[in-house]
Amino acid sequence: MARISVFGIGYVGIVSAACLARDGHQVTAVDIDQGKVDTLNAGRAPIVEKGLDALVAETVGNGTLTATADTGAAIRDTDVSFVCVGTPSDPDGSVGLGHVVSVCEAIGRALGNKQDFHSVIMRSTIVPGTMEEVCIPTLETASGKRAGRDFGVGYFPEFLRESTAIEDYADPGLIVFGALDDRTRDILTAINQDLPCEMNKVDLRTAEMVKYTSNSWRAMKISFANEIGNIAKANDLDGQAVMRILCSDDKVAMSPAFLRPGFAFGGSCLPKDVRALRHVARVKDVPTPLLDAVLEGNVAQIGRAEEMIHSASRKAVGMIGVSFKSGTDDLRESPLADLAARLIEGGQEVQVYDPYVSEAFETDPGAAGRGNEVVPDLSARMETDLDTLIENSDVIVVGNSYPEAQDRIREAAKDVRVVDLTRIDPAMVSGERYQGICW
Ligand SMILES: NC(=O)c1ccc[n+]([C@@H]2O[C@H](COP(=O)([O-])OP(=O)(O)OC[C@H]3O[C@@H](n4cnc5c(N)ncnc54)[C@H](O)[C@@H]3O)[C@@H](O)[C@H]2O)c1
Repeated sequence: MARISVFGIGYVGIVSAACLARDGHQVTAVDIDQGKVDTLNAGRAPIVEKGLDALVAETVGNGTLTATADTGAAIRDTDVSFVCVGTPSDPDGSVGLGHVVSVCEAIGRALGNKQDFHSVIMRSTIVPGTMEEVCIPTLETASGKRAGRDFGVGYFPEFLRESTAIEDYADPGLIVFGALDDRTRDILTAINQDLPCEMNKVDLRTAEMVKYTSNSWRAMKISFANEIGNIAKANDLDGQAVMRILCSDDKVAMSPAFLRPGFAFGGSCLPKDVRALRHVARVKDVPTPLLDAVLEGNVAQIGRAEEMIHSASRKAVGMIGVSFKSGTDDLRESPLADLAARLIEGGQEVQVYDPYVSEAFETDPGAAGRGNEVVPDLSARMETDLDTLIENSDVIVVGNSYPEAQDRIREAAKDVRVVDLTRIDPAMVSGERYQGICW
């Protein structure tokens, strides 16, 4: 069991402090607000949350939870600190780091006076890069010590929900953390190991990004459900019934397969159906900012790929895949066909390897390609030999994934530039020659 200080007796801090004390740790809660310190030391919770009053009374009563405004004493008497100070929005929308900076300065000064190793674990919500660019330098400057060597550093975002915070603490939906050093990683592992949830051990920036992604995702789902509900009501339908039925489909509608960053959507259904639903809403004067953005974002993703290819090469482009997904020759609203058309219009030489589209051309050489309305001479641009395509290209664009192409592309990425829109290999990340669209 550890000796833990928790900085910030706000919502997150008090719930964590009380739960850690209940789990047998010796916890010191720290706040600059003497009123909160006094309230806690009197055995009362400074916020209203189901089950918290009893937990605070019990843990303060048995001496496992105490509070102080003295940062120096708290650092001296504990081995690890969790920092849970507020990060409100600044007027320009950026994350307000005033409390984070001042708590890091105070903890850093105290670390400067401490001989033993101490880990500082940030729990406040902070944007990617804040640990490396703000918290660690502030702690180092104030302490005169090196992070990762002289003291430990970690980032462990909190996902609890107000009103069910104590239940969420014992049964979290997500655990993710990053640490600069093994000792801090071990502390975080030990604290989480009995919880019924997978531990995601990542780098500091990824942990920071996951927290914002989680909150933005939840916010977006609410706005999406509201937009559907508004369209439904305008058409005398029950929006909640519609969404409830949608949510019952965990094979397609709720599938993680559609939450994998990559290239634009296309095909014969999604673009036309989003347009049609938007039209249904327009007829009833229902605004659809989210559906509008869905279509705008999709066009922008094609533009993003085009930009990446332009920066990689101004000459010969070898596209692997042109149909809207692998396993079909369907070119209707294929974003890869759109991309090819844009590149051709921009003056690039485009050759295409797509076994399914080539097979269709073999049976009907005079055809334009099923559903192709954007690349008039597609048939002449098809290359059935992958090696020839790679040899003749300055940049390879991986649009669809074909098993026979994976090793060849991975090999080619050593010599030729590759722009990958699908991710041929999870181990590959953007570098000098290889660029993934979202990784
Ligand atoms: N409230 C939630 O449901 C929730 C959930 C997950 C994550 N978060 C994040 O956790 C962080 C804390 O949120 P909160 O709602 O608990 O904040 P809060 O504003 O309720 O509490 C923050 C506390 O920190 C104290 N504080 C400020 N500077 C201090 C310092 N230098 N030393 C010691 N204490 C100091 C304040 O006095 C206050 O009591 C935020 O980054 C928030 O975004 C909040």
